[in-house]
Amino acid sequence: MYVADNKRYDSMQYRRSGRSGIQLPAVSLGLWHNFGGVDHFENSRAMLRRAFDLGITHFDLANNYGPPYGSAEETFGQILKKDFLPYRDELIISTKAGWDMWPGPYGDLGSRKYLLASLDQSLKRMGLAYVDIFYHHRPDPDTPMEESLGALDTAVRSGRALYAGISAYNAEQTAKAVKILRDLGTPCLIHQPKYSMFVRDPEQGLLDVLEKEGVGAIVFSPLAQGLLSDRYLKGIPSDSRAARDFFLKKTDVEKDKLAKIRALNELAADRGQTLAEMAVAWVLRDPRVTSALVGTSKVSQVDDNVAALKNLKFSAEELRRIDGILAGTHPSQSAR
Ligand SMILES: NC(=O)c1ccc[n+]([C@@H]2O[C@H](COP(=O)([O-])OP(=O)(O)OC[C@H]3O[C@@H](n4cnc5c(N)ncnc54)[C@H](OP(=O)(O)O)[C@@H]3O)[C@@H](O)[C@H]2O)c1
Repeated sequence: MYVADNKRYDSMQYRRSGRSGIQLPAVSLGLWHNFGGVDHFENSRAMLRRAFDLGITHFDLANNYGPPYGSAEETFGQILKKDFLPYRDELIISTKAGWDMWPGPYGDLGSRKYLLASLDQSLKRMGLAYVDIFYHHRPDPDTPMEESLGALDTAVRSGRALYAGISAYNAEQTAKAVKILRDLGTPCLIHQPKYSMFVRDPEQGLLDVLEKEGVGAIVFSPLAQGLLSDRYLKGIPSDSRAARDFFLKKTDVEKDKLAKIRALNELAADRGQTLAEMAVAWVLRDPRVTSALVGTSKVSQVDDNVAALKNLKFSAEELRRIDGILAGTHPSQSAR
């Protein structure tokens, strides 16, 4: 029987999600990869246990995480039943709908029909009475925002979700969505954008909107799916995401990027961190970021990513060096 570490709240840092009552761990764990029906159940279970033992109270899912679609929620449901039911009130569990899930016109995008049916399916797969956060996974340009967000409002009012969130909405769409949700009486708790040293779009207005509106930001893929680590320094390991050549392509590990990764790796070493740790620390340097939403394939990666919290401070010089490396102008890259 799993008994959670009684020191689990001793060192994790918690950050408030915007102007809400919810605090999230500075590092959260996502189940996009490595929790599907094709993956090793005991490894998935060990990562979740380790995460919770380290104070990671937030696990992030979506209807179509797997493969196959739905299977990450099923795996999570089984682990919840075996290990985490006594801790349900210590957990923030989220799911989403908005990408393709089932065939036909009602299994994708942003209709009320799709979102509410999908949430019911997710609850069933996970064996939950409610999720803590239900997200619209991406904006749907062909459905009125009022309809998609109205479905989130219904999800909350009907008790199937405690809070509403949005993902991948740009700054302008976010400002509109936040107002619609507020007018409906279900404030937007959090936004889930992609953000890392390699993908800095949220700096172009989105984080400003979230700060102004009092909405949290949980940023996904802070390691750029593993590129921002030492994983690819000596080629593409056979057990890596790039080796699967699907969501992260072998061609993403190209020469230019590797030169940047090498230079960043050296800078991380100067800070006494692994590159993965520095990548997590870098997104958390901005106080508007509530949580870094990482993925992992091994228990050791859970430990490494949480170890980032030991050093979240960057000097102005370090930040300048990072910007130089990312822009390709840092001298350490031309030397290679
Ligand atoms: N809202 C959305 O549209 C959206 C989209 C994508 C993701 N997400 C959420 O964000 C979560 C995280 O996304 P992600 O998995 O792309 O995040 P990520 O943290 O950028 O990448 C995770 C991958 O990086 C590698 N890794 C992790 N820690 C490492 C370490 N310490 N050292 C070396 N390598 C390490 C592992 O790759 P290997 O497998 O190669 O070991 C791991 O699978 C997802 O699970 C999901 O919950 C949301």
